[in-house]
Amino acid sequence: MNDQELMSAARKAVETSYSPYSMIQVGAALITKGNEVFTGCNVENVSYSLSMCAERIAVFTAVLHGMKPGELTKIAVAGKTSDGQWQSCPPCGACRQVIWEFAESPETPIIYQDREEVKSKSIGELLPDGFDLR
Ligand code: THU
Repeated sequence: MNDQELMSAARKAVETSYSPYSMIQVGAALITKGNEVFTGCNVENVSYSLSMCAERIAVFTAVLHGMKPGELTKIAVAGKTSDGQWQSCPPCGACRQVIWEFAESPETPIIYQDREEVKSKSIGELLPDGFDLR
């Protein structure tokens, strides 16, 4: 699956976002070594800090279906505002650490929009020196 196709899957996942508080819809789509695609959307809560990011829901769903550390080969993230515009959506720091845990290597690409541009940066670039006890 190429970058554009994975980004399309992330953009589709935006549709199920539950985000009545921020009104920011986020979707994520990842692909594994076994060529399986898993998606996630952000899910908010009236007790705001209980909200969960789209990327972590995608990763945790993949784990539920058997993904192991080292098997996440690529992830795309998309964000949409309430006026229907696609917006910049680089993954937050917490999600970078979670992606890092399961990424195939420091070169594993993360695809996201930054202003008008769709970028592909590696997890190693976005999270140098991730926390590690292994
Ligand atoms: N959000 C994500 O889903 N992923 C990120 O990487 C950053 C933020 C969500 C959380 C919250 O529901 C909304 O975006 C606004 O912060």
